[in-house]
Amino acid sequence: MEILQTLAELNQWRRPIKIKSIGFVPTMGALHDGHLSLMRAAKKQNDLSICSIFVNPTQFNEASDLEKYPRTVEADIALLESVATDAVFIPKAAEIYPEDGFDIPVFQLDHLTNTLEGAHRPGHFEGVVQVVYRLLDLVSPHRLYMGLKDFQQQAIIAEMLRQMRSNISLVPCPIQRAADGLAMSSRNRRLSTEERRIAPDIYQVLKKTKAEWQAAKSPSEIQANAINQLELAGFEVDYFEIVDAKTLATVPMFDTSVQAIACVAAWLGAIRLIDNMKLSE
Ligand code: PAJ
Repeated sequence: MEILQTLAELNQWRRPIKIKSIGFVPTMGALHDGHLSLMRAAKKQNDLSICSIFVNPTQFNEASDLEKYPRTVEADIALLESVATDAVFIPKAAEIYPEDGFDIPVFQLDHLTNTLEGAHRPGHFEGVVQVVYRLLDLVSPHRLYMGLKDFQQQAIIAEMLRQMRSNISLVPCPIQRAADGLAMSSRNRRLSTEERRIAPDIYQVLKKTKAEWQAAKSPSEIQANAINQLELAGFEVDYFEIVDAKTLATVPMFDTSVQAIACVAAWLGAIRLIDNMKLSE
C-alpha cells in the first residue's frame, strides 16, 4: 500500500492513473469493520482503492469532541493493508486548508442540513461538505463510498454531487453492526462496560419502531414510545424522528407511498450515538 502524506505525493500517485477506475473512502480514522466494508466495496468495484484519514476540525462543533477523537494511525494502516487497499492519504490540516483558501461553490443544502444532526450540531455539515468537496477535488475518484450509518451525511453529499453535475457516483453502503446490533462507530471504544451493555438498546428500539410502522401506527405515537423506552434504558435523547428518506422532512402520518426512515441520536453518559433504520422495506 502506498502511504501518501502530502499533496505532491498524492498527485504523483494519482496523475499516471488516467483510465483506471478509482474508488475513494473518506474517513477520520480509528478504523473498524464499518469502514473496512466500504474499503472492500471500493476495492471490488474499482481497479484501485484509496482511503483518506483526516480528522476534520471544521466539522466538530465541540472542541472537546475533536480533542478526544481517537487517533490510531498505525493500527489503521495495518487494517487497510489487511483489505489490500491500494493507497492511503493522510494529509496535514495545512494541505487540506491552505492559508490562501480554496474556492468552493455555493450549494443550496439548507433543507437537508437544518434538520436532525444539523439542528443539534451547528456548523457540522458545513464542515463535512467543505472537506468532502476538497478531498474529491484532490483525489478525483470515479466512485465515492459512504456509509448509511450517517444517513443524513450521505444524503447531503449526494445532493452536493447532483448540484455540481459531478460524474462521481456515490455508492451508499449498508450499516455494519456488532453481533448485538450496536452500529459500529469509532466513538464506541469510549463507552464504559456498563454503557456498552446498554448501547444496543438503540437497535432494539429501531426494530420495534419498524414493526410499529408496519402495523400502521402513527409516527407521533411511535416516536413517543421510542423516546420513552430509550430514556428508561438510560439514554438522553437528542432526537428520534421518522422522516422521508428523500427529503428528510418529518412524516406526519402513516403513508405507504413514503420511504420512511427512523433516525436517532442519543447520549449515553458523555458519548453521543447515532443510528437509523429504513422502515418500509
Ligand atoms: P467517519 O466517521 O470516519 O466515517 C467514514 C465513513 O465510514 C462514513 O461514510 C461513515 O458513514 C462510514 N461508517 C462509519 N461507521 C459505519 C458503519 N457502522 N457501517 C457502515 N459505514 C460506516 O463520516 C466521516 O468519517 C466524516 O464525516 C467524513 C465523511 C470522512 C468527512 O470528514
